[in-house]
Amino acid sequence: MKQASAPKGKPRFRLRLEHAAVFFVVAAVLFFGYSVFQASTGGSSSSGGGGGSSSGLTSQHSGGGLHRRTLVRVGAEDGGEGGEGGAHVVAKPCPKAEPVVKTETVTVTKLVYGSTLQNPRAYHVVTTVAGFSNHWQARIHYYWFKKQRDACLREPACDMGGFTRVLHTGKPDDLMDEIPTVVVDPLPDRNTTYIVLNRPYAFMQWMKLVSIPEKYFVMCEADHLFMRPLPNFMNGEAAGAALFTYIVPWNYNDIVRKFIGKDKSDEEVKKVPQIGNSPTFISTEQFKVLAPIWYNTTMEIFDDKEAHDAWNWVLEMYGYAIATYRAGQHVNMRVVPNMLAHPPFDKEEVDPEGRPFYLLHLTYPCRYDKFGNMTDNSTLAVWTFDKREYSVKPPPRNLAMPPEVVHNNLVRLIVGMINEATDALPCWDDYVATSKVNKCAHHTAKTGEKAEEEAAVAGGATKAAAT
Ligand SMILES: *[C@@H]1O[C@H](CO)[C@@H](O)[C@H](O)[C@H]1NC(C)=O
Ligand SMILES: *[C@@H]1O[C@H](CO)[C@@H](O)[C@H](O)[C@H]1NC(C)=O
Ligand SMILES: *[C@@H]1O[C@H](CO)[C@@H](O)[C@H](O)[C@H]1NC(C)=O
Ligand SMILES: *[C@@H]1O[C@H](CO)[C@@H](O)[C@H](O)[C@H]1NC(C)=O
Repeated sequence: MKQASAPKGKPRFRLRLEHAAVFFVVAAVLFFGYSVFQASTGGSSSSGGGGGSSSGLTSQHSGGGLHRRTLVRVGAEDGGEGGEGGAHVVAKPCPKAEPVVKTETVTVTKLVYGSTLQNPRAYHVVTTVAGFSNHWQARIHYYWFKKQRDACLREPACDMGGFTRVLHTGKPDDLMDEIPTVVVDPLPDRNTTYIVLNRPYAFMQWMKLVSIPEKYFVMCEADHLFMRPLPNFMNGEAAGAALFTYIVPWNYNDIVRKFIGKDKSDEEVKKVPQIGNSPTFISTEQFKVLAPIWYNTTMEIFDDKEAHDAWNWVLEMYGYAIATYRAGQHVNMRVVPNMLAHPPFDKEEVDPEGRPFYLLHLTYPCRYDKFGNMTDNSTLAVWTFDKREYSVKPPPRNLAMPPEVVHNNLVRLIVGMINEATDALPCWDDYVATSKVNKCAHHTAKTGEKAEEEAAVAGGATKAAAT
């Protein structure tokens, strides 16, 4: 990097002489070329345009630009939308020259770290949300997605690609500038407050509205926090899904048979995987087949009194598991025990076999008594974290850590991760006070720019959404 600095004394003088010599030679050659050019064809063909275009290809590896993704249009006729800094528009070729072939080049400076879009295993994160609990969770979820993806991109191979929040309320909200978002309609024709029933429908609409640059995606929920860079957990082209030990189809053989066929044996019922729809990796190709089946299966379960009563708040998870069987996509599926940690029942960042967990599920209440034992009794509790306490207001900054007697590293991690995010996200105190994303100057300046970059990474998904 330092070799360009000029040496001292005589060598410097010699260098200058050389420069002068080179300058004259170049000038002579140029002049000669120009004369020949003028004399012969009268200017019908020229390399002028081509020469210019190569200098238009700028990759911005240096300095703080590492996280910028710059679109460089080469040979563009007019700089119409090239408003962003760093776009180079090549000078128009002289009128009589052959027009330069129009090419569009995308320079992704993240390639310095390793590729996302060029990695054939790259996946998109698709997180469905509705309601206020999902509102603050999505902000923290997205904060950790970005942080872990940045870490991921510094590794030799990284599967983490773009991100889309699918907001299934039918209306844009105040996070549109902060998080790449697609707005879809809520479930029609069903009068239910059971919000998760909306998920199959939301995913189906998203699939129709948007195409993502990645071949794969992972279905996520806002209460999943990225603990570390998350690899693509698929088994080749077959799906990869988190194990849910509480989804046990073979405890309900007769009910399951209602949906997979009366003639199916108990052995066959056992093939229905112990999974839900999230977190689940799948290819868009497979999902196009699966989504309507998932939707129908979930509706059938919802409308079947026996199944509905049996599975209640996890019925859409059974709906998904059974749908994969119906679609034949359970074959070769990878069911991953360490994809999703469930504190406080999971206590360490690795599972009992020593495999790292990747996502932290903020789902169960974490409530401890003065002995450091878990308790359901709020009178006895000396320390509690329960996301359900934050369904109207977000958690404040600087949540207290559990006391020393609580021996649970994942519960501490929950608090640490939430605190880091609420500290880093602008204007969190105002957010706690009003439950609205406040447009304080700091906020608009920072997140607006970030969201733009992320939207680019998300493959322009936001643009389709915002309208
Ligand atoms: C939905 O159900 C609630 C309670 O059962 C009822 O009050 C409401 O009118 C229903 N809404 C529609 C649109 O049917
Ligand atoms: C879903 O159900 C509808 C109506 O019952 C039916 O017409 C459609 O074929 C079903 N689709 C799938 C994929 O099972
Ligand atoms: C609380 O935990 C301690 C040891 O950690 C145990 O001895 C005690 O029985 C527990 N108390 C209750 C009420 O479970
Ligand atoms: C909770 O603990 C308090 C104090 O020991 C006790 O009075 C109360 O009955 C307990 N509540 C339940 C639901 O067990």
